[in-house]
Amino acid sequence: MTDFKIAPSILSANFACLGKEVEDVIEAGADFIHFDVMDNHYVPNLTFGPVICQSLRDFGIKVPIDVHLMVEPVDELVDSFAQAGATFISFHPEATSDISNTINLIKQAGCRPGLAINPATSLDYLKNCIEEIDIIIMMSVNPGFAGQSFIPEVLDKLTLARSIITESGREIFLEIDGGVKANNIASIAKYGADAFVSGSGIFGTSNYKKTIDHMREELAQL
Ligand code: DX5
Ligand code: ZN
Repeated sequence: MTDFKIAPSILSANFACLGKEVEDVIEAGADFIHFDVMDNHYVPNLTFGPVICQSLRDFGIKVPIDVHLMVEPVDELVDSFAQAGATFISFHPEATSDISNTINLIKQAGCRPGLAINPATSLDYLKNCIEEIDIIIMMSVNPGFAGQSFIPEVLDKLTLARSIITESGREIFLEIDGGVKANNIASIAKYGADAFVSGSGIFGTSNYKKTIDHMREELAQL
């Protein structure tokens, strides 16, 4: 049975009590904390940087932190996120001039690299680096904002990405990001995702444990 990972995106958390929100969502069953970094340049929105990641670690958060960089350029931020306690660091291939160099920087800094693929981005980017990455973030919305609707056209890409992973023989998380909720998680999993980012789908509900339990029940029926 697949070991599905649930990764709540703190983009939809209440920032006035972020530590408590993250503790609550972990207690409710979250596997990873998804950390959306936006720079008002690569995407038209501005969120948070390494100091917030460090604060979560200082607060006692131990689970993997899944940093999703929606920034351009990328390289300058790698070391500071690594030092701030990031586990995974994923970036958009269009946002860096040398993809393998960025991957190497992430590895040298002691983190696990990933590529984030927009709905309109080709999976060709995976070909040259599949041996080097540990996670693929398949975007099912255009990056920039929480609370958007899932783009169903991405499902076929998910299947293709899954076959690329299988062919590589490597263990790589295939994480779907955008518009994931308890009511569509099972149908998405059928296309090959094994990790699920959900922002508004979890933080927008009143009982995180009930929501994550519901997600796991849906996944268990596959
Ligand atoms: C979008 C972000 C997502 C987003 C998910 O740019 O990468 O992680 O916060 O939020 P929901 O689950 O609300 O679509
Ligand atoms: Zn994200």
